[in-house]
Amino acid sequence: MTTELGLPTLRGGPSRDPARPDDPRLVDGFGRVATDLRISLTDRCNLRCTYCMPAEGLDWMPRDEQLTDDELNRLIAVAVRELGIDELRFTGGEPLLRKGLEGVLSTAAALRPRPDMSLTTNGIGLARRAEALAAAGVNRLNVSLDTLRPERFAEITRRDRLSDVLDGLAAARDAGLSPVKINTVLLRGVNDDEAADLLDFALAHGYELRFIEQMPLDAQHGWRRSEMITADEILARLEERFVLTASDEDRGGAPAEKFVVERRLAGTSIGAAGGPATVGVIGSVTRPFCGACDRTRLTADGQVRTCLFATGETDLRALVRGGATDTEIADVWRDAMWGKKAGHGIDDPGFLQPARPMSAIGG
Ligand code: 5AD
Ligand code: SF4
Repeated sequence: MTTELGLPTLRGGPSRDPARPDDPRLVDGFGRVATDLRISLTDRCNLRCTYCMPAEGLDWMPRDEQLTDDELNRLIAVAVRELGIDELRFTGGEPLLRKGLEGVLSTAAALRPRPDMSLTTNGIGLARRAEALAAAGVNRLNVSLDTLRPERFAEITRRDRLSDVLDGLAAARDAGLSPVKINTVLLRGVNDDEAADLLDFALAHGYELRFIEQMPLDAQHGWRRSEMITADEILARLEERFVLTASDEDRGGAPAEKFVVERRLAGTSIGAAGGPATVGVIGSVTRPFCGACDRTRLTADGQVRTCLFATGETDLRALVRGGATDTEIADVWRDAMWGKKAGHGIDDPGFLQPARPMSAIGG
């Protein structure tokens, strides 16, 4: 582990950039403060989405490289107690594949101040787990769903499991995990004609739908800017059936631009329980929100990433396994975040996709 100057970090007194303010929180050089920790619990997955990984899967992380539950609980506690993290999002790969998941969740839920906790899952096996997840302290769920057509689902994910996901969504709602959000990635010529159908489905079932622009994070490096469906296109497709009005709600660090939805034919608002119906669009590529980013990320093997697109990582696992104190770990984490770049740089001529794919970083 080194600082940006290449100096070794010393036990008992990590070297630190003298310009970094004496602030216990995760501040960076652009005035942002990270309060939202995204934790990848495993790089494994039981689907093979074409825009994420190859059909044969990837070389999964060896077990001994993965943080144990105790190591993970420790780092989460440091983040909440020492660094002011107040929101935890558990992701994967597929987080439901992590053994001991409910234990990690309930340990995190017992921290004070109690962090807000959410989970991003592909929904496989969720029908059986939703109650236990709620009981363990999960507040909200995001379920990935790109199509409502079984054959398309099998084409995109390379597994015939649409009904499992639909059952999982219903179980999550019934378990009181509210709101249940759906994440959708539209792919040109594959499911880009389904935007309005997905919104109708979400509105009918009380789920909150968000479209995410496809990002250059696939393991195969097959992403092409010219191929991706842009936020403008997503909105145009929705507007064929709906009237969308930009929501005046403060976005804060949230990546989704929210729109209030009315059906074009009826012309009346589709009042869902608890407020007007909305749809979100996350224009990560064409409408970047890096200036308001409040995230820090931890991979399943204990590396801090300052951004999805960061090309460097900071090794906390070595610190934990080497006997570092909470204070030392916290300070190295602060140093890492202080070096966070202003933006993802996808539009820079020299942009390089990170070596670690999305499935090993977490969404
Ligand atoms: N671009 C955008 N979203 C992606 N996801 C996975 N890979 C990509 C990508 N390259 C989505 C999944 C899931 C969430 C974790 O991120 O569909 O909803
Ligand atoms: Fe699995 Fe998510 Fe990647 Fe699909 S996008 S293969 S569900 S990790």
